[in-house]
Amino acid sequence: MTKKPLILGIESSCDETAASLITENDNGFPIILSNIISSQEEIHKEFGGVVPELAARSHLEKIDWIVKKAMDESGRRVEEVDAVASTAGPGLVVCLSVGLSFGKALAAAINKPFIAVNHLEGHALSPRLNSKLDYPYLLLLISGGHSQYLNVQNLGKYIRLGTTIDDALGEAFDKTAKLLGIEFPGGPQIEILAKKGNPKKYDLPKPIFNKGGCNLSFAGLKTSILKICKSINTDQEKFDLAASFQKTVLEILYKKTKIAFQEFKKINSNTNKNKFIVAGGVAANIKIRNMLENLCKEEKFEAIFPPIDLCGDNAAMIAMVGLEKFKLKQFSKLDHPAKPRWSLDENATFLKGAGVKL
Ligand code: KG4
Ligand code: ZN
Repeated sequence: MTKKPLILGIESSCDETAASLITENDNGFPIILSNIISSQEEIHKEFGGVVPELAARSHLEKIDWIVKKAMDESGRRVEEVDAVASTAGPGLVVCLSVGLSFGKALAAAINKPFIAVNHLEGHALSPRLNSKLDYPYLLLLISGGHSQYLNVQNLGKYIRLGTTIDDALGEAFDKTAKLLGIEFPGGPQIEILAKKGNPKKYDLPKPIFNKGGCNLSFAGLKTSILKICKSINTDQEKFDLAASFQKTVLEILYKKTKIAFQEFKKINSNTNKNKFIVAGGVAANIKIRNMLENLCKEEKFEAIFPPIDLCGDNAAMIAMVGLEKFKLKQFSKLDHPAKPRWSLDENATFLKGAGVKL
């Protein structure tokens, strides 16, 4: 029996320090041996968002023991690792540098290949960690840093169908929460408050709703909520605002996902089964999940939601990209730079106007 590759993945692009070891079984199906994630929520909550210098310092403090813990839990020895894969971008450069340097140094020390991974490619391949999923598929990534529709054609072949032209959806949830006096990250709390509110109470804007294909925009919502917040006094009004915000998000995602489905079908006209995957922290929102599942039924797409610990930032998804690249011998040089901006689709056009988040 041939030895199966053992890949160490390292992630430090934002506020999660993570390490994971994966391998595969005889059928080529991935096995997660360990998946350690340490979140910095506690550090950043008093600032209402991620503070890059504090995040980088925390990554530096933790990276050794997170990798050691991942090694210990995997039951394997570091000499058995066949390749080290680290996130090289996009993200905060001071944070990326920590995991990237650590990964390169370790790969050099054990004399094994190093693989620089695009964080978005990790999200794009994450559903392949726990379900038998053939290419192509449509991915909606909705997290604190990204909101995009990606046609995942194959390893290394991605077509970005749409992206946010301003705030990411998780950011919009967190900013709304902050205006309502909720600590960062407030997205999950908005979902809870919304249950007690009247979603029809406030009429909020839906930027680029009728134009821009499946591109998204959420910044206008925040401006409008800021104005309303100045005149609300009661808890019930807060609940109503949270519910109205969430309802508006649902309407935007319903319409834009429908457009993304059409675009996906145009590109993949000879695919017999259309698959739709939702990843990123906001995919934990039950209302959003239910709406998208119903839409999939209407439009005859198979809906796939990876488990929450594989939806948010993690290193197993980075190791997954590492594994697929390792098998194709796609290694990186040890001088591979940290790339704070790194589009998965180099041909994707930037929308004019507000800066596009990659
Ligand atoms: O992917 P993720 O774990 O991390 C990064 O973005 O790096 O996503 C975190 C985001 C935060 O903005 C958080 O508020 C949002 O996901 N989020 C939610 C919910 N749970 C997490 N937003 C809305 N509803 C939720 N239930
Ligand atoms: Zn992410």
